[in-house]
Amino acid sequence: MGKSQDLYLKAKKLIPGGTQLLSKRPEMFLPGLWPAYYSKSSGAEIWDLDGKKYIDMSYMGIGACILGYADKDVDKAAKAAIDKGSLTTLNAPEEVELAELLIKLHPWADMTRYTKTGGEAMAVAVRIARAKAKKDGILFCGYHGWHDWYLSANLASDRSLDGHLLPGLNPLGVPRSLKGLALPFAYNDTEGFLKLVEAQKGKIGVIVLESIRNDAPKKGFLETIRRTATKMGIVVVVDEITAGWRLVHGGAHLLFKFEPDIAVFGKGISNGYPMAAIIGKREVMEVAQDSFISSTYWTDRIGPAAAIAAIKKMAQKKVSVHLISTGKKVKQGWLRLAAKHGLAIHVGGMDPLGHFRFEYEEPLVLKTLFTQFMLEQGFLATTAFYASYAHKATHVVQYLKAADKAFAFIAQAVCSGEPRKYLKGTVCHGGFKRLT
Ligand SMILES: Cc1ncc(COP(=O)(O)O)c(C=O)c1O
Repeated sequence: MGKSQDLYLKAKKLIPGGTQLLSKRPEMFLPGLWPAYYSKSSGAEIWDLDGKKYIDMSYMGIGACILGYADKDVDKAAKAAIDKGSLTTLNAPEEVELAELLIKLHPWADMTRYTKTGGEAMAVAVRIARAKAKKDGILFCGYHGWHDWYLSANLASDRSLDGHLLPGLNPLGVPRSLKGLALPFAYNDTEGFLKLVEAQKGKIGVIVLESIRNDAPKKGFLETIRRTATKMGIVVVVDEITAGWRLVHGGAHLLFKFEPDIAVFGKGISNGYPMAAIIGKREVMEVAQDSFISSTYWTDRIGPAAAIAAIKKMAQKKVSVHLISTGKKVKQGWLRLAAKHGLAIHVGGMDPLGHFRFEYEEPLVLKTLFTQFMLEQGFLATTAFYASYAHKATHVVQYLKAADKAFAFIAQAVCSGEPRKYLKGTVCHGGFKRLT
């Protein structure tokens, strides 16, 4: 079990849910056997509490560490900010430099606000958008965090959010009076979107979506959203918290020539330091002056300093190009190995954020077997791969070599008719669940 799992058992008694992020629960990977805690990290490598080293071929800090762990340039900027005082009574000048940098990259935008986490940045964006539109109704697709506006979608039907990344999200504690205010539509379903707008005529103030998550936008989808929103005075918020910086330097909406009213960045914007930015058109962002939106730690110096360093490095190293080609190699590798071992898998996701699914009766059993086998080979791995700048060709080669053996093992488990027999622990969770 090791020190990490011992500590996690203790954590579960002290911290409800074990960790602060569902996607970092060991139960989401390999219950009872996932290393859970790290002692140090560098590039694409992580050491657990027993000093065992792993190559991270999974989520790279759940998408936050695009440049890799403990990136020297970003850390240097963060340390310099610490040495000057991370927070004082006066403001950090880096806030203005970062605003200029973001606006230069997104010429449609004029102003920025900041928060620390993605979910709260989305809550700020939604507040501003509702204030501007003077209507409470929201149409959305995709995952946007834990806040009431989003989870309220599951008050109407507890399955509303299931197709939007994380299934089973429980809105317990979200005021029931919010029911019916946030309604989901499916990405690329232009017709469904138009029907929803028609049915909710006059009630919708905000449309929230990721510019891309899995498939590329179908012709006409984003254009229809923009046209409808403009016609009806609806504010469009694009969530770039995960898609941003990966396909192009800046928000992925730039690639699709899609002009939102607000775009939101988080996670990868600062490579592991808490920071998020809400950028938008002046006439929309100015409304933030009329609604109380204010928090002490949104003013720290480390976040903007780290973001400036990360953005500059991502531009200088053409990081998105590296992420696309690395991710593509991994996706092609999965397909090749599955064919070699006669396994049925579905591969999806944009290239820098690829994923696969075992097309069998109990896909979670096979997913757990994959993680189990890969961990024994020294890899943190699941059925998704978030490419980072720290992933070099050698990591991909080593990973695919190990995955070759893992797929052979899984093919054997499938052939036996009893794949569960090959598990050393229990099956991983597929979404939100109460821990026992
Ligand atoms: C698209 C998107 N929006 C919002 C969030 C929430 O961000 P955070 O976990 O920093 O609150 C995430 C996190 O996974 C995300 O992927």
